[in-house]
Amino acid sequence: MKIAVIYMSRHGTTGKVANLIAEKLEREHPVDVMNLARFPALSPEPYDMVIIGGSIHLGQIQEEVRAFCERNLELLLQKEVGLYICCLLRERQEVQLRDAFPVKLLAHSKTHACLGGEFLMERMDHEDWVVARVAAKSDRSVSKIDFQAIDKFCESLLKGIHA
Ligand SMILES: Cc1cc2nc3c(=O)[nH]c(=O)nc-3n(C[C@H](O)[C@H](O)[C@H](O)COP(=O)(O)O)c2cc1C
Repeated sequence: MKIAVIYMSRHGTTGKVANLIAEKLEREHPVDVMNLARFPALSPEPYDMVIIGGSIHLGQIQEEVRAFCERNLELLLQKEVGLYICCLLRERQEVQLRDAFPVKLLAHSKTHACLGGEFLMERMDHEDWVVARVAAKSDRSVSKIDFQAIDKFCESLLKGIHA
């Protein structure tokens, strides 16, 4: 089983989560972790399982993630798929997850989840820092990566698949 984790990240958290997922899955299967920003023409073709992650800013996932899913939809529907977002508004996570990916892909996915998020103040430009400071009511970085949800996500992906 060849696995790809394909992600897009603004300040690094979705990439960090991609690597945590890969660490767990590569105990049993070869995993490639790829940043869509670096490989915009990436194809999921060589992989049996494709995990796609993006982060939410002002309610939206990265346009590049959306476009990747649309462009490769037919191919992705023939593969094992896992979908995740990184975000911080707990009460919005279901809606944001639903809006982030094509309906058909969500329905087809083996699992989909919000895996938490972070405000990494030192990595933000001024505009993002202002939004984050108001949302967090603080200028300190916040780390709420959901490690339990990552474990559950990986377990669901591996269910029924043998090494
Ligand atoms: C400018 C800005 C806007 C954000 N908007 C949202 C939002 O609409 N909903 C949400 O749940 N989280 C929001 N977040 C939190 C991000 O989803 C969180 O910081 C995430 O970990 C970012 O991941 P990344 O560094 O991989 O891009 C926002 C963060 C910033 C800095």
